[in-house]
Amino acid sequence: MDLDLAKRAGALIKSQTQAINDRAQELKRSGRDLIDLGAGEPRFREPESVRSAGISAIESGFTGYTEVGGFPDLEKAIRERYEKVFGLDNHGWKAMATDGAKTALFEIGQLLYDEGDEVVIPRPYWVSYPTQVKLAGADPVFVAGSAENNYLPTAEEIEPEIGPDTVAILINSPGNPSGGVYTENQGEKLVELVKANDLFLISDECYDGFVYGQDRYWSLATAGYDRGLVVGSTSKNFAMTGWRLGYILGEKKYISELEKLQSHLTSSPSAISQKAAESALRRELSLSRELRVEFEQKRDVLAEGLASLPGIKCSPPPGSFYLFPDISVLLEELGREPSDDTDFAGTLLEEAGVVTVPGSAFGKPGHLRLAYLPDIDRLEEAVVRLEEAVNGLL
Ligand SMILES: Cc1ncc(COP(=O)(O)O)c(C=O)c1O
Repeated sequence: MDLDLAKRAGALIKSQTQAINDRAQELKRSGRDLIDLGAGEPRFREPESVRSAGISAIESGFTGYTEVGGFPDLEKAIRERYEKVFGLDNHGWKAMATDGAKTALFEIGQLLYDEGDEVVIPRPYWVSYPTQVKLAGADPVFVAGSAENNYLPTAEEIEPEIGPDTVAILINSPGNPSGGVYTENQGEKLVELVKANDLFLISDECYDGFVYGQDRYWSLATAGYDRGLVVGSTSKNFAMTGWRLGYILGEKKYISELEKLQSHLTSSPSAISQKAAESALRRELSLSRELRVEFEQKRDVLAEGLASLPGIKCSPPPGSFYLFPDISVLLEELGREPSDDTDFAGTLLEEAGVVTVPGSAFGKPGHLRLAYLPDIDRLEEAVVRLEEAVNGLL
């Protein structure tokens, strides 16, 4: 039956990983012991202090509508986080709280992109980027970086893709699924590129609490570029996925336009979540340091294990909590194409009871994404199971 939907609904494609997720749920229900390396959601709960801040918001009646972009102390806490962590000293920027970073990115698209505009996005990409660009009427232009740079495209790689219709470059560092992190030098070159071409630079930095082996790393917040918008979130950094609290940081003139849009969309994020997020952001440094040490250990255990398997290339990237190994040689040895990574992820689920996400879901066939979130002993077991499954197939 014809549903008579709007043309833009054509951008809504069914998730390529839905079949694997459905099958994983089915296996779980039937009692199969699965090791889930698929979901990008921390396994621990949000910190106790964050929970208490939410509860006390409810008990004290802080439960009504707030300012569209969040109550003033939250706005201040977001900016102060960037002053403390990234040295933002800055330049008349303001923050607006949103219902998660996903909504933030959607709103940016609605505000900035027109029909026929082009938006450069990295490949592999986080799954919602192309759809959100298309829903705004624009066209995504994909640019892949080299494996050595964990697929993050550099300014030199992006430049040839810039044309008369390009309006924005959307970057993601630390990256999902790549785990790549832009160095300060690479970040500065990107800013030079957008300045020279008068483009918007949208920087999704949702995983910025998860950077390993270096104390300083680049954030667009330090650049003071007036067409720059930083998107952040409490979801990953503070294990607050269900609180739905993200934000945009940028020039006041753009934030006030975004607030107009948000006033017609969500009015504001939940008041309760805002109080919880304010508490999380204020305790930033002490919370994230211990998590980082734990994540780095897990990353290394899984990366070493995967790299020891035949036909799999895997080196530990510096950020986020994903590995994105290249399995194209293995697929070739099995007589399969890179685009068979989806089937292969299905085989790993059936044979090894390990949930992974195929690279095709992120526009990069011949890869798998594995989230190193379970406990170390489970990660070790996953490697044993994967080894058995792979050897059984070869
Ligand atoms: C790269 C990236 N950006 C944005 C988001 C959205 O996060 P939020 O929970 O804040 O909406 C995610 C969530 O997985 C992500 O991986």
